[in-house]
Amino acid sequence: MDKHQETAEPDLKRIEEIVSRYRDQKWPLISLLQEVQEELGYIPPEAIRPIARGTGLFPAQVQGVISFYEQFHTTPRGKNIVKVCRGTACHVRGGRTILKIVKQNLGVEEGGTTPDMNFTLETVPCLGTCFLAPSMMVNKDYFGKLAPPKLKSILQQYGSPGE
Ligand code: FES
Repeated sequence: MDKHQETAEPDLKRIEEIVSRYRDQKWPLISLLQEVQEELGYIPPEAIRPIARGTGLFPAQVQGVISFYEQFHTTPRGKNIVKVCRGTACHVRGGRTILKIVKQNLGVEEGGTTPDMNFTLETVPCLGTCFLAPSMMVNKDYFGKLAPPKLKSILQQYGSPGE
């Protein structure tokens, strides 16, 4: 099964297996969290206690680290991550309209995931490609000098919502 579709019950056995491999390491928490996320697509709340036990930390400390780093996600995310830039360079070149149309195409708000788990929509302060404004990314692919008519076909390369 695709890890991004495992939304119902997190695999606690798998989490325990990952935790057990980090038990003897000195500063294992970040790597451990990364591996759990890599494996499950996110870090479910049920993973916090076993991770805390395995690392000798309090659950609140583990939760604190998860909350601190933007890279960690505590809810299931889609197979494809769409990041629309909301930075100034993109904003003045129509970024707001781009975001509006992407939302309409996907049928979700910022932070939302399509019901079929194919897309998650996020916004970011800058993608580092201001010269291509307005810009967005899908997974690791950059798209710049965006115009509304281009958006649907870009998203369709990754499958339509509902497929
Ligand atoms: S402001 Fe959009 S890429 Fe920098």
